Amino acid sequence: METGGPVPQEWCSEIGEVLLGSTPISHRITELGVDISRDYDGKNPVLVVVLKGSFVFAADLSRALTIPHRVEFIRARSYEGDKSTGAVQVTGLEGVDLANEHVIIVEDIVDTGLTLKALTKRLADLGAASVVTCSFLMKMTSRRQTNTPDVRYAAFDIPDKFVVGYGLDYDQRYRHLPFVGVVKK
Ligand code: XMP
Ligand code: MG
Repeated sequence: METGGPVPQEWCSEIGEVLLGSTPISHRITELGVDISRDYDGKNPVLVVVLKGSFVFAADLSRALTIPHRVEFIRARSYEGDKSTGAVQVTGLEGVDLANEHVIIVEDIVDTGLTLKALTKRLADLGAASVVTCSFLMKMTSRRQTNTPDVRYAAFDIPDKFVVGYGLDYDQRYRHLPFVGVVKK
């Protein structure tokens, strides 16, 4: 399926390539909503949304679900600019009760998998009944670490490029783009 397209005129000076346009994104999220609603029927899952990058995806995914669910927000940081620092800081879990809950981590992108590994452990330690991940993007990369948790739901595989838009940033810019693109160097 062709998912890219031309760079909108107003972004031509900064964005070199559109990998995912807003129409394929919205179709794919509708499909994920159907899958998750079927798999979690009767389970009242908790979407644990990893800020900031997942805020746009989470808003669309939540509205694509037809089953009751709770939404919680946490922060995880491992990047400075466009480089992973390796260490994962998780904040915002204070006061979030996940005991015996079916947790779906909502991530923007899985790259090395280290963020996901750290998060899955933290949430399981809080006594969740189950913890799976729904990631908007999966980067096809040789940097993926071994022993990272399986990603149960993923919207798109993308090439090993630093991407922005649809929630993802470069130094806090471009989160509001309705498409996923690559910044010009
Ligand atoms: P790891 O390596 O832990 O990285 O799987 C996951 C987190 O790193 C950020 N990340 C990106 N952010 N464009 C971004 O804006 C990218 O191409 C990108 N690759 C990784 C992101 O915060 C993700 O949760
Ligand atoms: Mg980021």
